[in-house]
Amino acid sequence: MVSWPRRIADVPRSPSALPAAAPFALAIALVLTACSGGVQGRPGASGVRDPYFPKLGNGGYDVTHYGLTFAYDPGTKHLTGTAEITARATQDLSAFNLDLLGLDVSAVTVAATGGDAENARWNRAGHELTVRPHDDLDKGDTFRTTVRYSGTPETLTDPDGSEEGWLRTADGALALGEPTGSMTWFPGNHHPSDKASYDIKVTVPEGLRAVSGGELTDETTLNGRTTATWHTAEPMASYLATVAIGRYDITRSTTENGLPVIVAVDPTQADASREVLASLPEVLEWEEAHFGPYPFSSTGAIVDREGDAGYALETQNRPVFPGAPDTGFLVHELAHQWYGDSVTPKTWRDMWLNEGFATYAEWLWQEEHDGDTADEIFNSLYKGDYFDDPQLDEAVWAFPPAKPSGAAHLSDSPVYERGAMVLHKIRQTVGDDTFHDIIQGWATAHRHGNADTADFTAYVEKSAPDADFGAVWQDWLYGEGKPAKP
Ligand code: TRP
Ligand code: ZN
Repeated sequence: MVSWPRRIADVPRSPSALPAAAPFALAIALVLTACSGGVQGRPGASGVRDPYFPKLGNGGYDVTHYGLTFAYDPGTKHLTGTAEITARATQDLSAFNLDLLGLDVSAVTVAATGGDAENARWNRAGHELTVRPHDDLDKGDTFRTTVRYSGTPETLTDPDGSEEGWLRTADGALALGEPTGSMTWFPGNHHPSDKASYDIKVTVPEGLRAVSGGELTDETTLNGRTTATWHTAEPMASYLATVAIGRYDITRSTTENGLPVIVAVDPTQADASREVLASLPEVLEWEEAHFGPYPFSSTGAIVDREGDAGYALETQNRPVFPGAPDTGFLVHELAHQWYGDSVTPKTWRDMWLNEGFATYAEWLWQEEHDGDTADEIFNSLYKGDYFDDPQLDEAVWAFPPAKPSGAAHLSDSPVYERGAMVLHKIRQTVGDDTFHDIIQGWATAHRHGNADTADFTAYVEKSAPDADFGAVWQDWLYGEGKPAKP
Protein backbone atom coordinates (compact mmCIF):
# COMPACT_ATOMS: atom_id res chain seq x y z
CA MET A 1 0.00 0.00 0.00
CA VAL A 2 1.25 3.43 -0.86
CA SER A 3 -0.10 6.71 0.36
CA TRP A 4 -0.67 9.76 -1.72
CA PRO A 5 -0.06 12.58 -2.38
CA ARG A 6 3.67 12.65 -2.85
CA ARG A 7 3.30 16.39 -2.47
CA ILE A 8 2.24 16.73 1.11
CA ALA A 9 0.48 20.05 0.52
CA ASP A 10 -3.12 19.67 1.61
CA VAL A 11 -4.19 23.16 0.68
CA PRO A 12 -7.46 23.52 -1.23
CA ARG A 13 -7.27 23.81 -4.99
CA SER A 14 -7.25 27.34 -6.28
CA PRO A 15 -7.15 28.97 -9.70
CA SER A 16 -3.85 29.93 -11.29
CA ALA A 17 -1.72 32.33 -9.29
CA LEU A 18 -0.12 33.82 -12.36
CA PRO A 19 -1.38 37.26 -13.28
CA ALA A 20 -2.62 37.43 -16.83
CA ALA A 21 -0.96 40.78 -17.50
CA ALA A 22 1.63 39.62 -20.01
CA PRO A 23 -0.18 40.84 -23.14
CA PHE A 24 0.22 44.40 -21.87
CA ALA A 25 3.97 43.98 -21.67
CA LEU A 26 4.04 42.92 -25.29
CA ALA A 27 1.79 45.82 -26.28
CA ILE A 28 4.08 48.27 -24.50
CA ALA A 29 7.14 46.76 -26.13
CA LEU A 30 5.48 47.14 -29.52
CA VAL A 31 4.64 50.80 -28.81
CA LEU A 32 8.20 51.48 -27.69
CA THR A 33 9.51 49.93 -30.87
CA ALA A 34 7.16 51.88 -33.08
CA CYS A 35 8.21 55.18 -31.48
CA SER A 36 11.96 54.88 -32.06
CA GLY A 37 13.28 55.76 -35.48
CA GLY A 38 15.06 53.39 -37.81
CA VAL A 39 14.63 50.29 -35.69
CA GLN A 40 15.23 47.01 -37.40
CA GLY A 41 14.76 44.61 -34.53
CA ARG A 42 11.44 43.55 -33.15
CA PRO A 43 10.48 42.66 -29.58
CA GLY A 44 11.04 39.11 -28.42
CA ALA A 45 7.90 37.17 -27.51
CA SER A 46 6.61 37.46 -23.94
CA GLY A 47 6.16 33.72 -23.58
CA VAL A 48 7.22 30.49 -25.28
CA ARG A 49 3.65 29.20 -25.53
CA ASP A 50 4.03 26.35 -23.14
CA PRO A 51 0.77 24.35 -23.42
CA TYR A 52 0.17 24.70 -19.66
CA PHE A 53 1.87 28.05 -18.87
CA PRO A 54 1.89 30.04 -22.14
CA LYS A 55 3.49 33.16 -20.66
CA LEU A 56 6.41 31.41 -19.01
CA GLY A 57 9.76 32.06 -20.61
CA ASN A 58 10.41 34.54 -23.39
CA GLY A 59 11.37 34.51 -27.05
CA GLY A 60 14.24 36.06 -28.97
CA TYR A 61 17.20 35.03 -26.88
CA ASP A 62 18.84 32.08 -25.23
CA VAL A 63 20.46 32.46 -21.81
CA THR A 64 23.90 30.91 -21.39
CA HIS A 65 24.76 32.08 -17.86
CA TYR A 66 23.16 33.57 -14.76
CA GLY A 67 25.33 35.40 -12.25
CA LEU A 68 23.10 35.99 -9.23
CA THR A 69 24.33 38.01 -6.26
CA PHE A 70 21.99 38.81 -3.42
CA ALA A 71 21.70 39.39 0.30
CA TYR A 72 18.79 38.11 2.36
CA ASP A 73 17.96 38.73 5.97
CA PRO A 74 15.31 36.41 7.45
CA GLY A 75 14.71 39.02 10.17
CA THR A 76 13.56 41.74 7.78
CA LYS A 77 12.56 39.26 4.99
CA HIS A 78 14.29 41.64 2.64
CA LEU A 79 16.32 40.63 -0.40
CA THR A 80 18.65 42.95 -2.33
CA GLY A 81 20.15 41.54 -5.47
CA THR A 82 21.83 41.91 -8.81
CA ALA A 83 21.24 39.48 -11.65
CA GLU A 84 23.71 39.38 -14.53
CA ILE A 85 22.21 37.45 -17.39
CA THR A 86 24.35 36.52 -20.36
CA ALA A 87 22.37 35.55 -23.44
CA ARG A 88 22.57 35.19 -27.19
CA ALA A 89 20.02 36.94 -29.39
CA THR A 90 18.17 34.46 -31.61
CA GLN A 91 16.61 37.28 -33.65
CA ASP A 92 17.21 41.00 -34.14
CA LEU A 93 15.84 42.50 -30.94
CA SER A 94 14.47 45.93 -30.15
CA ALA A 95 13.18 44.72 -26.81
CA PHE A 96 12.96 41.50 -24.86
CA ASN A 97 11.26 40.19 -21.75
CA LEU A 98 12.42 38.59 -18.55
CA ASP A 99 10.13 36.90 -16.04
CA LEU A 100 10.13 38.43 -12.56
CA LEU A 101 7.23 38.38 -10.11
CA GLY A 102 7.07 40.96 -7.32
CA LEU A 103 10.19 42.78 -6.05
CA ASP A 104 11.22 46.29 -7.11
CA VAL A 105 13.54 46.85 -10.03
CA SER A 106 15.83 49.87 -9.62
CA ALA A 107 18.06 49.69 -12.70
CA VAL A 108 18.60 47.68 -15.85
CA THR A 109 21.63 47.87 -18.12
CA VAL A 110 22.46 45.96 -21.27
CA ALA A 111 25.96 45.45 -22.67
CA ALA A 112 26.41 43.99 -26.14
CA THR A 113 29.56 41.96 -26.88
CA GLY A 114 32.62 44.09 -26.35
CA GLY A 115 30.49 47.15 -25.53
CA ASP A 116 29.88 49.06 -22.32
CA ALA A 117 26.83 48.55 -20.18
CA GLU A 118 24.24 51.13 -21.19
CA ASN A 119 21.13 52.04 -19.27
CA ALA A 120 18.09 50.34 -20.68
CA ARG A 121 14.46 51.36 -20.48
CA TRP A 122 12.20 48.88 -18.83
CA ASN A 123 8.68 48.45 -17.62
CA ARG A 124 6.70 45.82 -15.81
CA ALA A 125 3.34 44.17 -16.22
CA GLY A 126 2.48 41.13 -14.12
CA HIS A 127 5.49 38.84 -14.24
CA GLU A 128 6.79 40.32 -17.50
CA LEU A 129 9.77 42.66 -17.21
CA THR A 130 10.22 44.24 -20.63
CA VAL A 131 13.70 45.57 -21.34
CA ARG A 132 14.43 47.92 -24.19
CA PRO A 133 18.18 48.23 -24.69
CA HIS A 134 19.67 51.54 -25.76
CA ASP A 135 20.72 50.00 -29.06
CA ASP A 136 19.04 47.18 -30.91
CA LEU A 137 20.66 43.78 -30.61
CA ASP A 138 21.50 41.81 -33.72
CA LYS A 139 20.67 38.17 -34.16
CA GLY A 140 23.65 36.15 -32.92
CA ASP A 141 24.90 38.89 -30.55
CA THR A 142 25.91 37.89 -27.07
CA PHE A 143 24.73 40.43 -24.55
CA ARG A 144 24.71 40.88 -20.82
CA THR A 145 21.70 42.27 -18.98
CA THR A 146 22.16 43.47 -15.41
CA VAL A 147 19.07 43.90 -13.25
CA ARG A 148 19.24 45.49 -9.80
CA TYR A 149 16.29 44.62 -7.64
CA SER A 150 15.10 44.35 -4.05
CA GLY A 151 12.09 43.65 -1.90
CA THR A 152 10.34 40.84 -0.07
CA PRO A 153 10.11 37.77 -2.31
CA GLU A 154 6.72 36.09 -2.54
CA THR A 155 5.44 32.61 -1.96
CA LEU A 156 3.30 31.37 -4.85
CA THR A 157 0.30 29.11 -4.65
CA ASP A 158 0.31 26.73 -7.61
CA PRO A 159 -2.75 25.82 -9.66
CA ASP A 160 -2.85 22.59 -7.63
CA GLY A 161 -2.81 24.44 -4.32
CA SER A 162 0.73 23.66 -3.24
CA GLU A 163 3.27 26.36 -2.40
CA GLU A 164 6.48 27.23 -4.18
CA GLY A 165 8.65 30.22 -4.93
CA TRP A 166 10.21 31.83 -1.88
CA LEU A 167 9.16 29.86 1.20
CA ARG A 168 9.91 31.17 4.65
CA THR A 169 11.16 28.43 6.90
CA ALA A 170 11.53 28.09 10.66
CA ASP A 171 15.03 29.60 10.54
CA GLY A 172 15.41 31.22 7.12
CA ALA A 173 14.06 30.62 3.64
CA LEU A 174 13.91 28.03 0.89
CA ALA A 175 13.54 28.74 -2.83
CA LEU A 176 11.66 26.08 -4.85
CA GLY A 177 10.84 26.61 -8.50
CA GLU A 178 8.69 23.86 -10.00
CA PRO A 179 6.98 24.82 -12.21
CA THR A 180 6.97 28.65 -11.95
CA GLY A 181 8.48 29.74 -8.62
CA SER A 182 11.96 30.86 -9.66
CA MET A 183 10.59 34.15 -10.96
CA THR A 184 9.97 35.17 -7.33
CA TRP A 185 13.68 35.46 -6.52
CA PHE A 186 15.49 36.30 -9.75
CA PRO A 187 14.67 37.68 -13.19
CA GLY A 188 15.24 35.21 -16.02
CA ASN A 189 13.94 33.16 -18.86
CA HIS A 190 11.86 30.97 -16.62
CA HIS A 191 10.94 28.06 -18.84
CA PRO A 192 12.58 24.62 -18.77
CA SER A 193 13.52 24.88 -22.45
CA ASP A 194 16.24 27.49 -21.75
CA LYS A 195 19.02 25.96 -19.67
CA ALA A 196 22.15 27.80 -18.52
CA SER A 197 25.10 27.63 -16.13
CA TYR A 198 24.88 29.52 -12.84
CA ASP A 199 26.97 31.31 -10.25
CA ILE A 200 24.92 32.09 -7.15
CA LYS A 201 26.43 34.28 -4.44
CA VAL A 202 24.33 34.74 -1.32
CA THR A 203 25.01 36.89 1.76
CA VAL A 204 23.20 36.08 5.00
CA PRO A 205 23.58 37.11 8.65
CA GLU A 206 26.50 35.36 10.36
CA GLY A 207 25.41 32.10 11.98
CA LEU A 208 23.19 31.16 9.06
CA ARG A 209 24.35 29.33 5.95
CA ALA A 210 23.25 29.71 2.34
CA VAL A 211 23.20 26.40 0.45
CA SER A 212 22.62 25.94 -3.26
CA GLY A 213 23.28 23.53 -6.12
CA GLY A 214 26.65 22.87 -7.72
CA GLU A 215 29.86 23.33 -5.79
CA LEU A 216 30.75 25.76 -3.01
CA THR A 217 33.65 27.80 -4.37
CA ASP A 218 33.96 30.31 -1.54
CA GLU A 219 32.52 31.09 1.88
CA THR A 220 33.65 34.20 3.72
CA THR A 221 32.46 35.93 6.87
CA LEU A 222 32.97 39.66 7.17
CA ASN A 223 31.36 42.25 9.43
CA GLY A 224 28.74 39.88 10.76
CA ARG A 225 27.64 38.54 7.39
CA THR A 226 28.55 35.32 5.60
CA THR A 227 28.75 35.09 1.83
CA ALA A 228 28.66 31.72 0.08
CA THR A 229 29.34 31.28 -3.64
CA TRP A 230 27.98 28.26 -5.51
CA HIS A 231 28.92 27.29 -9.05
CA THR A 232 26.76 25.16 -11.34
CA ALA A 233 28.73 24.39 -14.49
CA GLU A 234 26.32 22.06 -16.26
CA PRO A 235 23.21 23.47 -17.94
CA MET A 236 20.33 23.88 -15.50
CA ALA A 237 16.67 24.74 -16.02
CA SER A 238 15.67 27.60 -13.74
CA TYR A 239 13.03 25.52 -11.94
CA LEU A 240 15.86 23.36 -10.61
CA ALA A 241 17.78 26.25 -9.04
CA THR A 242 17.53 26.53 -5.28
CA VAL A 243 18.81 28.45 -2.32
CA ALA A 244 18.28 27.26 1.24
CA ILE A 245 19.03 29.72 4.02
CA GLY A 246 19.09 28.64 7.64
CA ARG A 247 21.06 26.79 10.27
CA TYR A 248 22.51 23.79 8.50
CA ASP A 249 25.19 21.30 9.31
CA ILE A 250 27.06 20.99 6.04
CA THR A 251 29.19 17.93 5.46
CA ARG A 252 31.40 17.27 2.50
CA SER A 253 32.67 13.87 1.46
CA THR A 254 33.37 12.06 -1.78
CA THR A 255 32.07 8.91 -3.38
CA GLU A 256 34.48 6.12 -4.27
CA ASN A 257 34.74 7.67 -7.73
CA GLY A 258 35.74 11.02 -6.25
CA LEU A 259 32.44 12.78 -6.81
CA PRO A 260 31.88 15.51 -4.16
CA VAL A 261 28.89 14.83 -1.89
CA ILE A 262 27.63 17.97 -0.16
CA VAL A 263 24.88 17.40 2.36
CA ALA A 264 23.17 20.18 4.32
CA VAL A 265 20.95 19.10 7.17
CA ASP A 266 18.82 21.11 9.54
CA PRO A 267 20.18 20.03 12.96
CA THR A 268 16.68 18.99 14.09
CA GLN A 269 16.69 16.40 11.26
CA ALA A 270 20.21 15.09 11.82
CA ASP A 271 19.36 11.92 13.73
CA ALA A 272 16.41 10.92 11.57
CA SER A 273 18.32 11.40 8.31
CA ARG A 274 21.78 10.07 9.17
CA GLU A 275 21.29 6.53 7.95
CA VAL A 276 19.47 7.31 4.71
CA LEU A 277 21.96 10.02 3.77
CA ALA A 278 24.82 7.62 4.42
CA SER A 279 23.29 5.40 1.74
CA LEU A 280 23.36 8.17 -0.91
CA PRO A 281 26.62 7.01 -2.59
CA GLU A 282 25.25 3.47 -2.79
CA VAL A 283 21.95 4.65 -4.31
CA LEU A 284 23.86 6.77 -6.81
CA GLU A 285 26.10 3.87 -7.78
CA TRP A 286 23.05 1.64 -8.30
CA GLU A 287 21.44 4.33 -10.45
CA GLU A 288 24.62 4.71 -12.51
CA ALA A 289 24.50 0.98 -13.21
CA HIS A 290 20.95 1.43 -14.54
CA PHE A 291 20.90 4.91 -16.03
CA GLY A 292 24.54 5.44 -17.07
CA PRO A 293 27.17 7.86 -15.78
CA TYR A 294 25.92 10.47 -13.30
CA PRO A 295 25.49 13.67 -15.34
CA PHE A 296 26.74 16.31 -12.87
CA SER A 297 29.91 17.33 -11.04
CA SER A 298 28.65 16.96 -7.47
CA THR A 299 25.77 15.43 -5.54
CA GLY A 300 24.19 15.66 -2.11
CA ALA A 301 20.97 16.71 -0.46
CA ILE A 302 19.34 19.49 1.52
CA VAL A 303 17.20 18.32 4.42
CA ASP A 304 14.98 20.96 5.99
CA ARG A 305 12.26 20.59 8.60
CA GLU A 306 9.06 18.78 7.76
CA GLY A 307 6.84 21.85 7.62
CA ASP A 308 9.27 23.92 5.56
CA ALA A 309 7.94 22.63 2.21
CA GLY A 310 5.02 20.45 1.17
CA TYR A 311 7.04 18.12 -1.06
CA ALA A 312 10.52 17.07 -2.05
CA LEU A 313 12.09 18.57 -5.17
CA GLU A 314 14.84 17.33 -7.47
CA THR A 315 16.86 20.59 -7.38
CA GLN A 316 19.97 20.06 -9.49
CA ASN A 317 22.88 18.26 -7.79
CA ARG A 318 21.18 18.61 -4.43
CA PRO A 319 17.53 17.60 -4.00
CA VAL A 320 15.54 19.23 -1.22
CA PHE A 321 13.63 17.12 1.32
CA PRO A 322 11.18 18.44 3.89
CA GLY A 323 12.26 16.22 6.76
CA ALA A 324 14.36 13.05 6.57
CA PRO A 325 13.52 11.17 3.37
CA ASP A 326 12.96 7.45 3.21
CA THR A 327 14.97 5.41 0.73
CA GLY A 328 12.20 5.50 -1.89
CA PHE A 329 12.20 9.28 -1.91
CA LEU A 330 15.97 9.42 -2.16
CA VAL A 331 15.91 6.97 -5.08
CA HIS A 332 13.20 9.08 -6.73
CA GLU A 333 14.86 12.50 -6.41
CA LEU A 334 18.28 11.17 -7.39
CA ALA A 335 16.79 9.44 -10.45
CA HIS A 336 15.51 12.87 -11.50
CA GLN A 337 19.12 14.01 -11.86
CA TRP A 338 19.16 11.93 -15.06
CA TYR A 339 15.47 12.24 -15.93
CA GLY A 340 14.37 15.84 -15.53
CA ASP A 341 17.58 17.62 -14.62
CA SER A 342 19.95 16.34 -17.32
CA VAL A 343 17.24 15.34 -19.83
CA THR A 344 14.77 18.18 -19.26
CA PRO A 345 11.24 18.37 -20.69
CA LYS A 346 10.74 20.74 -23.61
CA THR A 347 7.43 21.86 -22.11
CA TRP A 348 5.44 21.15 -18.95
CA ARG A 349 3.31 18.74 -20.96
CA ASP A 350 6.28 16.36 -21.01
CA MET A 351 6.38 16.17 -17.23
CA TRP A 352 5.68 12.41 -17.30
CA LEU A 353 9.18 11.97 -18.73
CA ASN A 354 10.38 13.24 -15.34
CA GLU A 355 7.92 11.60 -13.00
CA GLY A 356 7.29 8.35 -14.86
CA PHE A 357 11.03 7.63 -14.90
CA ALA A 358 11.61 8.69 -11.27
CA THR A 359 8.67 6.52 -10.17
CA TYR A 360 9.92 3.60 -12.26
CA ALA A 361 13.32 4.02 -10.58
CA GLU A 362 11.56 3.37 -7.26
CA TRP A 363 9.96 0.22 -8.67
CA LEU A 364 13.28 -1.05 -9.98
CA TRP A 365 14.94 -0.35 -6.65
CA GLN A 366 12.24 -2.32 -4.82
CA GLU A 367 12.47 -5.17 -7.30
CA GLU A 368 16.20 -5.46 -6.73
CA HIS A 369 16.08 -4.95 -2.97
CA ASP A 370 13.67 -7.65 -1.81
CA GLY A 371 10.54 -5.62 -2.43
CA ASP A 372 7.71 -6.09 -4.90
CA THR A 373 8.73 -6.51 -8.51
CA ALA A 374 7.84 -3.83 -11.03
CA ASP A 375 5.48 -6.39 -12.55
CA GLU A 376 3.69 -6.84 -9.22
CA ILE A 377 3.36 -3.09 -8.77
CA PHE A 378 2.07 -2.70 -12.32
CA ASN A 379 -0.51 -5.45 -11.78
CA SER A 380 -1.63 -4.03 -8.47
CA LEU A 381 -2.12 -0.61 -10.06
CA TYR A 382 -4.05 -2.16 -12.92
CA LYS A 383 -6.22 -4.16 -10.53
CA GLY A 384 -6.80 -1.10 -8.38
CA ASP A 385 -5.48 -2.27 -5.01
CA TYR A 386 -2.21 -0.36 -4.93
CA PHE A 387 -3.04 2.72 -2.87
CA ASP A 388 -4.58 2.77 0.57
CA ASP A 389 -7.50 4.77 -0.82
CA PRO A 390 -9.74 3.43 -3.65
CA GLN A 391 -10.21 6.95 -5.01
CA LEU A 392 -6.48 7.15 -5.62
CA ASP A 393 -6.52 3.81 -7.41
CA GLU A 394 -9.22 5.27 -9.65
CA ALA A 395 -7.32 8.55 -10.17
CA VAL A 396 -4.51 6.74 -12.00
CA TRP A 397 -6.82 6.63 -15.05
CA ALA A 398 -7.98 10.27 -14.88
CA PHE A 399 -6.03 11.33 -17.98
CA PRO A 400 -3.26 10.07 -20.26
CA PRO A 401 0.31 10.70 -19.03
CA ALA A 402 1.23 12.63 -22.17
CA LYS A 403 -1.83 14.91 -21.97
CA PRO A 404 -2.40 16.14 -18.40
CA SER A 405 -5.88 17.60 -17.99
CA GLY A 406 -4.62 21.01 -16.87
CA ALA A 407 -1.89 22.87 -15.01
CA ALA A 408 -3.50 21.85 -11.72
CA HIS A 409 -2.90 18.18 -12.52
CA LEU A 410 0.77 18.08 -13.49
CA SER A 411 1.68 16.25 -10.32
CA ASP A 412 -1.27 13.85 -10.26
CA SER A 413 -0.84 10.10 -10.38
CA PRO A 414 -1.37 9.62 -14.16
CA VAL A 415 1.91 11.55 -14.59
CA TYR A 416 3.68 9.45 -11.96
CA GLU A 417 2.22 5.94 -11.74
CA ARG A 418 0.66 5.69 -15.18
CA GLY A 419 3.84 7.26 -16.60
CA ALA A 420 5.80 4.47 -14.94
CA MET A 421 3.29 1.96 -16.32
CA VAL A 422 4.10 3.19 -19.85
CA LEU A 423 7.74 2.37 -19.18
CA HIS A 424 6.75 -1.04 -17.88
CA LYS A 425 4.73 -1.71 -21.04
CA ILE A 426 7.86 -0.89 -23.06
CA ARG A 427 9.84 -3.32 -20.90
CA GLN A 428 7.23 -6.03 -21.48
CA THR A 429 7.37 -5.36 -25.23
CA VAL A 430 11.17 -5.46 -25.67
CA GLY A 431 12.46 -7.53 -22.73
CA ASP A 432 14.82 -6.56 -19.93
CA ASP A 433 18.05 -6.11 -21.87
CA THR A 434 16.71 -3.84 -24.57
CA PHE A 435 14.68 -1.97 -21.96
CA HIS A 436 17.86 -1.18 -20.04
CA ASP A 437 19.56 -0.08 -23.22
CA ILE A 438 16.63 2.20 -23.90
CA ILE A 439 16.48 3.95 -20.53
CA GLN A 440 20.24 4.37 -20.44
CA GLY A 441 20.54 5.35 -24.08
CA TRP A 442 17.76 7.92 -23.68
CA ALA A 443 19.68 9.61 -20.84
CA THR A 444 22.84 9.61 -22.97
CA ALA A 445 21.19 10.79 -26.17
CA HIS A 446 19.70 13.91 -24.55
CA ARG A 447 22.25 14.47 -21.78
CA HIS A 448 22.17 18.13 -20.64
CA GLY A 449 19.47 18.87 -23.20
CA ASN A 450 15.71 19.03 -23.64
CA ALA A 451 13.38 16.41 -25.06
CA ASP A 452 9.67 15.82 -25.49
CA THR A 453 7.32 12.87 -25.72
CA ALA A 454 7.64 12.58 -29.53
CA ASP A 455 11.44 12.46 -29.17
CA PHE A 456 10.97 9.65 -26.67
CA THR A 457 8.62 7.49 -28.72
CA ALA A 458 10.88 7.97 -31.77
CA TYR A 459 13.90 6.94 -29.71
CA VAL A 460 12.17 3.83 -28.40
CA GLU A 461 11.01 2.81 -31.88
CA LYS A 462 14.50 3.26 -33.29
CA SER A 463 15.98 1.17 -30.46
CA ALA A 464 13.68 -1.78 -31.14
CA PRO A 465 12.83 -1.60 -34.85
CA ASP A 466 11.07 -4.97 -34.89
CA ALA A 467 8.76 -4.29 -31.98
CA ASP A 468 5.25 -2.88 -32.31
CA PHE A 469 4.53 -0.07 -29.87
CA GLY A 470 1.27 1.03 -31.47
CA ALA A 471 -0.96 -0.06 -28.61
CA VAL A 472 1.45 1.15 -25.94
CA TRP A 473 1.41 4.67 -27.33
CA GLN A 474 -2.26 4.67 -28.24
CA ASP A 475 -3.72 3.08 -25.11
CA TRP A 476 -1.17 3.79 -22.38
CA LEU A 477 0.56 7.02 -23.32
CA TYR A 478 -2.08 9.03 -25.19
CA GLY A 479 -5.34 7.17 -24.57
CA GLU A 480 -8.13 8.41 -22.33
CA GLY A 481 -9.33 6.10 -19.57
CA LYS A 482 -8.10 2.74 -18.39
CA PRO A 483 -6.69 0.52 -21.15
CA ALA A 484 -8.86 -2.53 -21.74
CA LYS A 485 -6.00 -4.98 -21.22
CA PRO A 486 -3.07 -4.83 -18.76
N1 TRP B 1 8.88 16.99 -8.84
C1 TRP B 1 8.63 16.74 -7.43
C2 TRP B 1 8.91 15.28 -7.21
O1 TRP B 1 8.28 14.45 -7.79
C3 TRP B 1 7.23 17.07 -6.97
C4 TRP B 1 6.82 18.45 -7.30
C5 TRP B 1 7.19 19.55 -6.63
C6 TRP B 1 6.03 18.89 -8.40
N2 TRP B 1 6.65 20.64 -7.22
C7 TRP B 1 5.93 20.28 -8.29
C8 TRP B 1 5.41 18.27 -9.45
C9 TRP B 1 5.21 21.02 -9.21
C10 TRP B 1 4.69 19.01 -10.37
C11 TRP B 1 4.60 20.38 -10.26
O2 TRP B 1 9.79 14.92 -6.50
ZN1 ZN C 1 9.43 13.41 -8.99
